[in-house]
Amino acid sequence: MREKYGIRVLLVEDDQESGQALKAAIELNDIDVTWMLSAEEVMDNMELAKYDAIVSDIRLGGASGVDLLSMVRKESRDFPVILLTAYSDIEAAIEAVKLGANDYMMKPLDDIETLMIPLLRAIDHYRTLLHNHELQKKNREYMDKLMHLGSQLVLAEEQERRKLALDLHDSIGQLLGAAIMQLDLVSRSEDWKKHVENAHSQVGEAVERTRALALELSSPVLYHCGLMQAVQELCGHMGSSYDIDIIFSSDNSKVELPEDSSILLYRSVRELLMNVIKHADASQATVNISFEPEQQYKITVEDDGKGFEVRPKEEWVHMQSLGLFSIMDRCNALGGVFQLESKVGEGTVASVSVPLLSGPNN
Ligand SMILES: Nc1ncnc2c1ncn2[C@@H]1O[C@H](COP(=O)(O)OP(=O)(O)OP(=O)(O)O)[C@@H](O)[C@H]1O
Ligand SMILES: [Mg+2]
Repeated sequence: MREKYGIRVLLVEDDQESGQALKAAIELNDIDVTWMLSAEEVMDNMELAKYDAIVSDIRLGGASGVDLLSMVRKESRDFPVILLTAYSDIEAAIEAVKLGANDYMMKPLDDIETLMIPLLRAIDHYRTLLHNHELQKKNREYMDKLMHLGSQLVLAEEQERRKLALDLHDSIGQLLGAAIMQLDLVSRSEDWKKHVENAHSQVGEAVERTRALALELSSPVLYHCGLMQAVQELCGHMGSSYDIDIIFSSDNSKVELPEDSSILLYRSVRELLMNVIKHADASQATVNISFEPEQQYKITVEDDGKGFEVRPKEEWVHMQSLGLFSIMDRCNALGGVFQLESKVGEGTVASVSVPLLSGPNN
């Protein structure tokens, strides 16, 4: 049985004497009792949320306890209603149970426990139902939010593809187009050497840009040489592209990681470094790869930038942005841990750890 704490019962009884006696007896159990004299008084202002149960006499001056029960059932299928009945009303009481009353008691009660036991049981059951409904509602809201985020992730991926397509068209396409024009001019111009040189430098630039794009799209180093080298190359590439000092270090443990974990860690570092570049105003970032004794492979990205107030993780699902949430989401899916510490004015430290497939092999 749950706590009796904070239970409020609405007692409906038109007989002064038995009303007073019942109110006092129920209150002796640390229960708050509101006493009303008629079903009409309850119906005029039906406020079930204010109570945990109704205890009502069947025979009242006007509308009966059974009428009151019907009204309550229109509002709530499960709200506890216990009816009190004199011997002569026993048929009506049995009918009332069929209509959804939780129980009925014969008046006068032998002792208050006869009422308290079924009353507390009904209240306990009702509170459990309300609690479960609340949990289910929260669960549904969370799932809706997750589905929404899932579609946002697809959109974000599509936007990234579009950015790459534009980049391909605007930079590499233009450069190669200009090179073809230069080569066209070679056959028609006296100054062919200059056009060949121009075409050479345009094709060279296109090659450079292709390399950078390929790296942004998917690092070949990751698949051929492993995570450690890929992250090192990413640090060098991002450091020079965005003109920020990125220091890479590792404890040189050569460990075998599942491919999905490698991809997660690589993308996480890229997102965390992108965040440093976009948001931190930092002069320096460090990236460290280490093997932890608890068989965890851990990458830490730290910056000396302006820092920010980190919201609790349960709230990330409600944020507009996707970067941190998607690291946490993918990390959870792989049994890893994403930690983020930051304070305004004191920089940011983020780390992603994943379990290892096998131990270190130095
Ligand atoms: N290293 C950092 N320094 C300062 N602020 C940061 C840093 N990393 C994250 N933030 C703050 O946390 C917010 C959430 O980051 P998150 O990566 O989720 O989103 P975003 O970078 O704004 O957008 P998205 O990653 O979806 O393109 C950022 O908008 C920024 O305010
Ligand atoms: Mg981001």
